Amino acid sequence: MNTPTMSESSLSFHVNGKRVCVKNPDPKTLLGDFLREEMGLKGLQMPCKQGGCGACTVLISFDAAAHANVCSCLMPLCSVDGMHLTTIEGVGSLKTGLSSVQQAIVDYNGTQCGFCTPGMIMSMHGLMLDKSQPTAEEIEDQIDGNLCRCTGYRPIFNAFHSPSCAGSQFICHMNKTNSCRSHAMDIEDISRSLLTRLVISEEDVVWVRALVLKDVYDILRTNSGKRKVRLVRGNTSTGIYPRVDNDVLVDISRVPSLLGSSVCYKGITIGGAVTISDLMLLLKKHSNLSKSYTPIFDHLKRVATPQVRNVGSVAGNLMIAHQHGDFVSDVATILMAAESRLTVCSACLNTSEVTISLEEFFRITMENKVITQIFIPSLPANSHFITKKVALRRINSHPIVNAAFKIQVDPETGLILPGPIIVYGGIRPYPQRAQKTEIELVGKSNMDQKVFGKCLSKLQKELVVDPSFRQTKYRTLLINHFFYCFLLSTYPKDAIPHNHLSGFTQACII
Ligand SMILES: Cc1cc2nc3c(=O)[nH]c(=O)nc-3n(C[C@H](O)[C@H](O)[C@H](O)COP(=O)(O)OP(=O)(O)OC[C@H]3O[C@@H](n4cnc5c(N)ncnc54)[C@H](O)[C@@H]3O)c2cc1C
Ligand code: FES
Ligand code: FES
Repeated sequence: MNTPTMSESSLSFHVNGKRVCVKNPDPKTLLGDFLREEMGLKGLQMPCKQGGCGACTVLISFDAAAHANVCSCLMPLCSVDGMHLTTIEGVGSLKTGLSSVQQAIVDYNGTQCGFCTPGMIMSMHGLMLDKSQPTAEEIEDQIDGNLCRCTGYRPIFNAFHSPSCAGSQFICHMNKTNSCRSHAMDIEDISRSLLTRLVISEEDVVWVRALVLKDVYDILRTNSGKRKVRLVRGNTSTGIYPRVDNDVLVDISRVPSLLGSSVCYKGITIGGAVTISDLMLLLKKHSNLSKSYTPIFDHLKRVATPQVRNVGSVAGNLMIAHQHGDFVSDVATILMAAESRLTVCSACLNTSEVTISLEEFFRITMENKVITQIFIPSLPANSHFITKKVALRRINSHPIVNAAFKIQVDPETGLILPGPIIVYGGIRPYPQRAQKTEIELVGKSNMDQKVFGKCLSKLQKELVVDPSFRQTKYRTLLINHFFYCFLLSTYPKDAIPHNHLSGFTQACII
């Protein structure tokens, strides 16, 4: 077996059970292009190349039990070293026989032009590997990231929800010893990618798979001021801001200390390479720990698509927001209101570490720095935490304006305790706190209509939409609307005047 000091310079992975070796790959090559152009697997489509449509969905497997659907249009080829990939060709075909998911699509007329069909089937196939009898809601959530412009979705959903589809057994290529390799080989292959550095050098770009944080710091330090270094976790940011030229790409997706998480009564801590999907699992599992965890989970369900969230990290999202003032980040807005703290380590200052709030994060430079941890504290039981988002579509769409609110009400006096937090995104560069309005709320009753009026006028003066953001009038309306919904959400339901009930309902469903 390879030792940690060894360094590989070629890729080895499996596609539909067959071993593939790639010598001297170009670090800029994307998985989707490789599969289509080099391997001739033309089933996956790449119409948008931005992570937005899901037609390029493939399944990646780390071991026999861990699978994830991803967008092959954003995934760098170098990042799949050691993995097992399944494309639509590996699921079934007319020659080898259709899988039950494919057959259901035929039986229920789930395809018209067929462009979205391979991606839809891959998404459902991925779900069925984990759950042989998914619920209607799980099926709907799973295909959130797959757009269809023909069928209206109903026949696709009916196919996936049909008895002949849900409930059938699926085969994982990693366990299918007769059609691929032995299981022992699988394990060795994955160990290789866990234990060896990978260095792929092309003329203009170098790809390095880091194994420990020290590797990452060394690369940042030695290249500082000389070559442009970019850390790569899921690489999904390139779907929004197409790749700028970088000289060194550092894959941090296999650095164990960045992938860990821990939970205690104080809150949830995740590493700087933990994906949004993995954070969602933690929030769901520990929802009893904090009033904020279920609202954060619900909001994250509306961030990007399952394929993007499966490899896209929380830290990566925050870094996009740090680098691009015009990027309206849901993650930054909700984590700021949840009083999250980031641990940031500088590669150049003797790897010194600071733990900072999100407000501080947006004020400091992040050059040669790594987010190593993100802490999401648990809030006291008498807290109210809600989040809001308006976008062009309910799912799979960037926010126009988002917001998150946190207050604590004294159970005896019914008055708002010190420390409310109000955060808005999409009105100016970077998420904005409404600190004057927060102060105005303290010591007041959240149920006093006069308080609402006073706070609203303060908020309107404090948060003026930057003219560089289009639709300023609409955004201003949303600021008011969200604030109103937030205050209503803190009322007991039976205390809400009849003609205000719709605001309360909206407040509860984001
Ligand atoms: C189609 C689509 C829809 C989306 N919709 C939404 C949405 O509705 N709301 C929303 O908020 N977001 C949305 N996003 C953004 C998405 O959440 C991010 O793309 C994702 O979280 C980025 O994570 P990543 O690991 O892929 O980052 P990468 O692309 O790998 O990296 C992004 C940047 O972060 C840096 N970086 C990564 N990790 C670290 C670290 N630990 N320390 C320091 N720097 C680091 C990298 O150097 C790079 O500059 C969407 C993205 C796509 C593609
Ligand atoms: S091509 Fe549209 S998501 Fe990849
Ligand atoms: S069948 Fe045409 S896009 Fe879905």
